[in-house]
Amino acid sequence: MLILGIESSCDETAASVCEDFRTIKSSVVSTQIEEHKKYGGVVPEIASRRHCENILQVTRQALDEADVTLNDLDGIAVTYAPGLIGALLVGVNFAKSLAFAAEKPLIPVHHIAGHIAANYLCHKELEPPYLCMVASGAHSHLIEVLSYTKFRVIGRTRDDAAGECFDKCARAMGFPYPGGVHIDRNAQNGDPTSFKLPHPAVAGTEFDFSFSGLKTSVINMLHHADQKGEAINKNDLSASIQSTISEIITEKTIRAAEHYGYSKIALAGGVSANSGVRAALSAACGERGFDFYMPKLELCGDNGAMIACQGSYNFAAGITADESLNAVATMSLDNI
Ligand code: KG4
Ligand code: ZN
Repeated sequence: MLILGIESSCDETAASVCEDFRTIKSSVVSTQIEEHKKYGGVVPEIASRRHCENILQVTRQALDEADVTLNDLDGIAVTYAPGLIGALLVGVNFAKSLAFAAEKPLIPVHHIAGHIAANYLCHKELEPPYLCMVASGAHSHLIEVLSYTKFRVIGRTRDDAAGECFDKCARAMGFPYPGGVHIDRNAQNGDPTSFKLPHPAVAGTEFDFSFSGLKTSVINMLHHADQKGEAINKNDLSASIQSTISEIITEKTIRAAEHYGYSKIALAGGVSANSGVRAALSAACGERGFDFYMPKLELCGDNGAMIACQGSYNFAAGITADESLNAVATMSLDNI
């Protein structure tokens, strides 16, 4: 089975062809980071315009590199939710037209399900059920992956996502957008015990996250130091932020696994590229004899292969869409 996957939910225009669910035949990612960097974050209208300009070329390249034609495909999968609405609309409308012209089934894919599926591309033995921690720029979710197409969200952020916290702290420290990777790099030469940062308590459900208190505490610390004319060691602060976020994610994920009886755990989303988060969760799983899975680095961020892979599972489960498919900015994985 050959599925084309198209992704345009944020600032990456991506397309990929996957064969038989888990084999990547091609994966093309065109990132807009350099352009959004000037503004310190993603400018939605610019993102939509760049998707519009790039999507055909990116798709053509993905087909060429896979050495297939539209005719060879079994279906066309596209991210339709959640994300920036204008950005999503470009991918949805493009995929819809392509499916119509090529007379191929159209397959809707939820972006977070796509991130989870990145693990299938890297671990041929991984099968549901398992627990997945998805941490990206927009989401921090603890998810029971009940089957390839059924999910239950058991924890989510009440405010900022983990990636947003990384990026906002990085911005306050003067690093360019997206700052998560700069914190990661600087943390390598810092002492994680230098700064005591808050582990937020969340009233109500045990498995929800809150990262805004951590962000505010870092921003206040930087302001106070600035007012007093004191220099803050950015390597030490980066290491402290990274270890605090890693501890929060690890502690909640392990507690949820023990509570719900999972011994198979996966990590996904852009923040799964973070070396501290990867090491902390991997070590905690190792200590308990849990199986731990995470995507290789190039599949942590947004890409078309994860959409093609999840699209293959959706298609096998009979999940297709007709020409009424629309983009949706906010949609829980529980509702698909
Ligand atoms: O999944 P993703 O590419 O886009 C969304 O769906 O949101 O995630 C992007 C997020 C950004 O916040 C980015 O700073 C973060 O992932 N990120 C990292 C690292 N690499 C990417 N955060 C911390 N450390 C990294 N190495
Ligand atoms: Zn994403």
